[in-house]
Parts: sequence; C-alpha cells; structure tokens
Amino acid sequence: MSSTFRIAPSLLSANFAKLGEEVSNVIAAGADWIHFDVMDNHYVPNLTIGPLVCEAIRPLTNAVIDVHLMVKPVDRIVPDFAKAGANIITFHPEASEHIDRTLSLIRECGCQAGLVFNPATPLDYLDYVMDKVDIILLMSVNPGFGGQKFIPATLDKLRAARVRLDRYREHSGRNILLEVDGGVKVDNIAEIARAGADTFVAGSAVFGAGLDSDPHRYDSVIAALRAELKQC
Ligand code: DX5
Ligand code: ZN
Repeated sequence: MSSTFRIAPSLLSANFAKLGEEVSNVIAAGADWIHFDVMDNHYVPNLTIGPLVCEAIRPLTNAVIDVHLMVKPVDRIVPDFAKAGANIITFHPEASEHIDRTLSLIRECGCQAGLVFNPATPLDYLDYVMDKVDIILLMSVNPGFGGQKFIPATLDKLRAARVRLDRYREHSGRNILLEVDGGVKVDNIAEIARAGADTFVAGSAVFGAGLDSDPHRYDSVIAALRAELKQC
C-alpha cells in the first residue's frame, strides 16, 4: 500500500472462463488490489463467487484481495474467506444483525475490516465503531451489477466521509481508507479523488478494455486512471 491512491479492479467484469489469467494480467498491468464481489441472490439480486474461488486465485498474486460481501447473513461466511486468503473483508451494515460483532470477527480472523454504504445508507453507522474499522466503502451505484452509472450524489457523501476520517485521524493517529465502488471511469476518477476517495474499484472500465487476445490490454486503461490521479 505504498502509493497515495489504490486501483482495485473488480473481478465481476472479468472473463470468468479465464479468471486466473485475468487476475495475473491485471496485476501485471499495474493494479494494486483485486476487488472480489460476493453476491448471494438474497441481499442483492445476483449470484457470484465464494471462498473456493478466492482460495483458487490466492496463489496467483501477492496483491491485496479486497472481499466485498453482499450477503446476508454475514458472519457465517467470514472465517471461510479469511481461510481462503482474503486480506480485507467489507460488509453492508444492513446485512448484519450485530455490526460491532461482525467487525470484531473479521479482525479476529486476521483480516482488515470495513463497512459498505449503499447510496441511501447514512454514514451514521460509523458513529460508535470507528475504532474497529480499517476501511470505508461508499457505493456509487446500487449493489448487484457491474456497468452501472456513477451516482453523482456520492461526491457530497465522499466529502462528508473525508471530513469524518480526517477528524478521526487527528485524534487517533489512525488512517482509515476511503474506497469508492461503482461507475468509476477514466473521465470521472479525478473528480472522485478530489472529493476525498483514496481507493477506487473499477470493474467494467478495466475489464471492458481492449481485445481478449491481447495480454497487455489492461496496461493502457490502468495507466490512464493513474495519469488522472496524478493531477489530484
Ligand atoms: C457492484 C459491485 C462493483 C462492480 C463495479 O455491486 O460491488 O464492485 O463490480 O463495477 P463497475 O466499475 O462496472 O461499476
Ligand atoms: Zn464491489
């Protein structure tokens, strides 16, 4: 986690028939993290990948695997992802019966813990748990699908989250990451960074780029995202 900004391609838009290659190629192209979207067709209306797939890609990279749980209940599956090699586990507060307990469980399993905020979910959920949170993820689309449009109201919410996190860092000395997920592209990433985000999930923007036959197809889009961030 050396640079100020982190780019986390979401596997949701990768070619699932070549998932291992996709992970290796996108990291070789300069991505920082792998964003791993877990959907259960219950909390969100889509079904994706679980701990077995996390375990399968773990040996392919040393990069951080950032598991975004869109599942309900949450706690049952947390230890499985920790065993499968996840570094970060985030969850939606509405999906957990006991938010404080779930955050503790994630850390006890050896992972960093985070809360995810849907577009209509208030930041108030942070009020009593800041000491247990390592990362905050703001959804800039409603969860469930890749390729949706960035919801502009997220920019104000990012600014509000930035104020909270900076204030918290001043008295605690602890830096909590601020990640954004949904509709992040080359043409809006700079504006999103200026609103306070430091970690960027990009699914369709990255995996939708270039020709399937070209192993270097992700280099230019990741370079373009970074070039935009350099100006911030
Ligand atoms: C949506 C997922 C996102 C999604 C982002 O529920 O959490 O991570 O893959 O995809 P894009 O970047 O295409 O909006
Ligand atoms: Zn996600």
